[in-house]
Amino acid sequence: MAKVTILPANVSAEVEPGELLLDAGEKAGVDMEAGCFNCSCGTCVVEVVSGMSNLDEPSPEELDVLDQWSRDPEKFRLTCCVRVRDGEVSIRPPGH
Ligand code: FES
Repeated sequence: MAKVTILPANVSAEVEPGELLLDAGEKAGVDMEAGCFNCSCGTCVVEVVSGMSNLDEPSPEELDVLDQWSRDPEKFRLTCCVRVRDGEVSIRPPGH
């Protein structure tokens, strides 16, 4: 199992490997921002505070959107695009 924690609320959910980060956040009880659910609008961007290596590598589509938003892909990811591998991940939605 993987564990995803959403800051600053510090709420967590245990999820199966392969779960979308967006769904993991919802499971933790957080109303996650999202628009297209299709890796194209950038609404679902979050800062990955720890555990980036426990997330799948970004797709070219995700990298394109992060670039449009001037978000460093080493620190920010789109929750509708990225799946959790295993281990622990902490994320923080922008503005929090
Ligand atoms: S909801 Fe649009 S990119 Fe994630």
